[in-house]
Amino acid sequence: MHRTLLVTSALPYANGSIHLGHLVEHIQTDIWVRFQRMRGHTVHYFCADDTHGTPVMLAAKARGITPEEMIAQAHDEHLADLKGFHIDHDLYYSTHSPETREYASKLYLRLKEKGLITIRSIEQLYDPVESMFLPDRFIKGECPRCHALDQYGDNCEACGASYAPTDLINPKSALSGTPPERRVSEHHFLRLAECEDFLRTWTRSGTIPEEAANKLEEWFKSGLTDWDISRDSPYFGFEIPGAPNKFFYVWLDAPIGYIGTFKHLADLQGLNFEEAWKPDSQWELYHFIGKDILYFHALFWPALLHKTDLRTPTQLFVHGFLTVNGQKMSKSRGSFITARHYLDLLDPQYLRYYLAAKLNGSMEDIDLNLADFTARVNSDLVGKYINLASRSAGFLTKRFNGRLAVTLTSEQTTLINQFRAQADHIATCYDARDTSKAMREIMALTDLANQFVDQYKPWELARQPEQTEALQQVCSTCLELFRLLTLYLKPILPKMAVAVEQFLAIPSLAWTHTDPNHGILGHVIRPYSHLITRVDPLKVAQLVVQSAPQATT
Ligand code: MSP
Ligand code: ZN
Repeated sequence: MHRTLLVTSALPYANGSIHLGHLVEHIQTDIWVRFQRMRGHTVHYFCADDTHGTPVMLAAKARGITPEEMIAQAHDEHLADLKGFHIDHDLYYSTHSPETREYASKLYLRLKEKGLITIRSIEQLYDPVESMFLPDRFIKGECPRCHALDQYGDNCEACGASYAPTDLINPKSALSGTPPERRVSEHHFLRLAECEDFLRTWTRSGTIPEEAANKLEEWFKSGLTDWDISRDSPYFGFEIPGAPNKFFYVWLDAPIGYIGTFKHLADLQGLNFEEAWKPDSQWELYHFIGKDILYFHALFWPALLHKTDLRTPTQLFVHGFLTVNGQKMSKSRGSFITARHYLDLLDPQYLRYYLAAKLNGSMEDIDLNLADFTARVNSDLVGKYINLASRSAGFLTKRFNGRLAVTLTSEQTTLINQFRAQADHIATCYDARDTSKAMREIMALTDLANQFVDQYKPWELARQPEQTEALQQVCSTCLELFRLLTLYLKPILPKMAVAVEQFLAIPSLAWTHTDPNHGILGHVIRPYSHLITRVDPLKVAQLVVQSAPQATT
């Protein structure tokens, strides 16, 4: 059955660089998208920068540019970084777009009409010098529980206590250093409790992973409270219709950015926008997200969609966090690795392969262990996989003008059939995002192929004139196995696959090309040229740059 899938990765914030944590998500999404496309489905994969909020506004101010200039720069950098890792979005857009503005307003007004928005005054901390209300992160003071100094307004890093910023002892604005005042202002809230019945059903209908459903149960137990969707001026965002100087909170318009972005894509490509978002849409909608933003995607977002009479997501695909050498990525330890820094040193395919070998579709964290990274990529990709081509192609080119044998021995045919027979199983792994399992199966096949080569030793056959036919058959078998492995690896290594398609002189590999009609027996290949180099451990060592120890005088 032909399917149409809408697929997103979470929208990266515009006030920071793309780093390897983001890449876990984008690479995971991209692999899944490419796999579905190879299966013949129609996939619209889109993403955008998440551009609004106080941090963007303040970062722009600190750099002496406008927020618009800052997000334009960030967009260009982010797009180049993601392309550098072969992420194949149909559109990488921005939430600061006319489309997202339009839908944010529209949906808000629909909610209001239905009585789901309530307005009331709340007291917040205000910086009289900067003339602005302070988000929790911009207030520092003494922890009310353990009395540690210099703690943020939402929680204490020393004892782990969570509290309201108004509970801090001796609070100071992190912007101006002055003690904040308490000020009252009107805020707009979404009455989330009205959505509880729907959310309880929705979250239990196979839309979110089991592990996440348990987390949600805790949230339901503590009760769904009204969600504050407005912020006071000055704020970089969209003004709320009918509420001058009030802006939508960034987390209100960010997911609506999925709709706005698809609208832009639909206009560019003439796609059926209405079909995508109507409640009984025949299209599927999948969001890839990290576990830290589950709350927004599993509660607010489906509630918002449902109450505005739009379709809800088919499924949320939730992944864990990336650690580097077993630890949280940290700027001070030098393990906060940006996409650009990686690309300056290493081939992106290494990371795609390594992450694929680790991701299993669960919410567990994944570790980038740098020694393991080097060893694994060198042994699997270079040592086992690429070697198959380099070991057999030379003989075919030199001795047979690049032509593969037309017939094989029955043993060889059996081996090839054994590779073909794994197609459904490997597809099931990809579909479930268990690329780790897919890689184990593919590498087990790669081992079989190498055993075959070791057993028949083409380099020895090549020295015996009476073994000419056997030489051609062994090398042809080997290349057909290599072609099938390339097909299986294609969602992960798309650039490599294109190079292999050129070398083998075959059309773009699709999943159905495992059937015997697409085999390359009798076919003429082009001369082999090197497809990938070994990982240089010296370059890997430079990924983590320890900042020089401070002189102590
Ligand atoms: N802007 C929001 C998302 C809005 S979606 C409507 C946001 N941005 S983010 O830049 O902080 O994160 C973007 C995605 O990257 C999130 O899914 C987040 O979980 C993921 N990751 C950020 N750091 C990560 C790791 N260290 N490891 C894995 N994923 C991580 O949240
Ligand atoms: Zn404390």
